[in-house]
Amino acid sequence: MSPRPPRVREVEFVGAIGEPGQRPPLPLPQIAIAGRSNVGKSSLINRLVERKALARTSKRPGRTQEINFFRVDDRFLIADLPGYGFARAPREVRERWGPLIETYLTTTPELLGVILLIDARRGVTSDDREMVGYLADSGIPVLFALTKTDKLNRSGGQAALASLREALDVDVEQTLATSAKTGAGLDTLWKSLRALIDSD
Ligand code: GTP
Ligand code: MG
Repeated sequence: MSPRPPRVREVEFVGAIGEPGQRPPLPLPQIAIAGRSNVGKSSLINRLVERKALARTSKRPGRTQEINFFRVDDRFLIADLPGYGFARAPREVRERWGPLIETYLTTTPELLGVILLIDARRGVTSDDREMVGYLADSGIPVLFALTKTDKLNRSGGQAALASLREALDVDVEQTLATSAKTGAGLDTLWKSLRALIDSD
């Protein structure tokens, strides 16, 4: 069997924004990866683009503090958002992230969709609900992806998906289960991403 061709030929960090109102570094179509601190946003991005350490990851929450942009094949950008819900972040930092994320989500015409990550073992938190409500108001298409499903067995993973759908009252097609560790769910995630990008 021949190996699967790489999903991505070229991927590069193209810049970051740290202040509300700053524009993304390039006017390309973009997909944002959102979710609580430590949910696995940066790890999933690395797995998506098949680069081990492109986006910085950390055991400690609060690693990503700016919106980091990665250009994929001159075609689109992936935006790695800072995580929300991290109570131990310095107050000054927390107060900056909210407006930074909100301004980006509401004032970026090139933004095609958001992938909202939920930790499979923790389920939907009140911070997530706030984000979900906010995205619903904005009308941006959202895909909900469970992360770290390698930490659950098969039935646990299925139960986590079912409770995600129930908690957020979303359609099956809007949800998927992933693992940055094993690569589970990545094919499905790519299909959804491609559909969003090709719809542009
Ligand atoms: P912030 O930048 O702080 O918002 O965090 P983040 O959402 O970018 O999380 P990050 O990718 O840095 O991962 C946080 C921790 O979870 C790291 O220790 C990762 O190794 C771990 N992790 C991420 N994804 C997975 C996964 O699919 N499986 C397992 N077992 N661990 C994971
Ligand atoms: Mg991160």
